[in-house]
Amino acid sequence: MNAPDVTYLPETPAHDAEIDHINEEAFGPGRFARAAYKIREGGPHERTLSFVATHDGIVIASVRMTRIAAGEGRALLLGPLAVRPAFKNLGIGRRLVAIALEAAGKAGAEAVVLVGDEPYYGPLGFKRIPRGQISMPRPVDLDRLLAVEIRPDALARLTGEVCHADHATVEERCLATV
Ligand SMILES: CC(C)(COP(=O)(O)OP(=O)(O)OC[C@H]1O[C@@H](n2cnc3c(N)ncnc32)[C@H](O)[C@@H]1OP(=O)(O)O)[C@@H](O)C(=O)NCCC(=O)NCCS
Repeated sequence: MNAPDVTYLPETPAHDAEIDHINEEAFGPGRFARAAYKIREGGPHERTLSFVATHDGIVIASVRMTRIAAGEGRALLLGPLAVRPAFKNLGIGRRLVAIALEAAGKAGAEAVVLVGDEPYYGPLGFKRIPRGQISMPRPVDLDRLLAVEIRPDALARLTGEVCHADHATVEERCLATV
């Protein structure tokens, strides 16, 4: 199949069931135990900055973005990113990340953070966050904490515990529920 058969669209509630299925297929039941999932549990994802890829009207890939806070910094958490197995290695994942990054920039986001493989995300602009600068609510391999800086010095403002932006207090601390 050729890439032109794929359409990229902003996510809507009508895509939710198909996206759940794709994420279950890609990550299995263990996805609920992931650090990023714990953060995303803290509030809704940012629907306007989340995108799907469709083929013949069927959702075949998805990327979601969630507003996060860490210290004085604010950013978007990218993920989950998943592509249905039959559509892998067609550039769809890379394209979804590029679309999400462009939308984040236009929306005025300061940075985009994710937990993922540097060999995949590095060429898309992501760099390792210095070890110890931020912490996640569950253990993660620190080499997989990556970020793209959209506004100058945005990364330096991300410090300490990462939580959903809805759980950040004016004292720049995460509420205990996250
Ligand atoms: C990872 C994933 C999103 C990639 O999507 P995709 O549309 O197949 O990838 P693309 O077509 O954009 O890129 C393919 C390239 O990335 C490489 N690649 C794929 N996954 C990779 C990984 N984890 N690490 C390094 N490289 C990877 C492929 O080998 C391929 O390389 P090539 O271009 O040199 O041949 C997809 O494989 C997937 O859904 N995996 C399961 C869920 C997952 O792991 N999501 C990412 C969470 S961090």
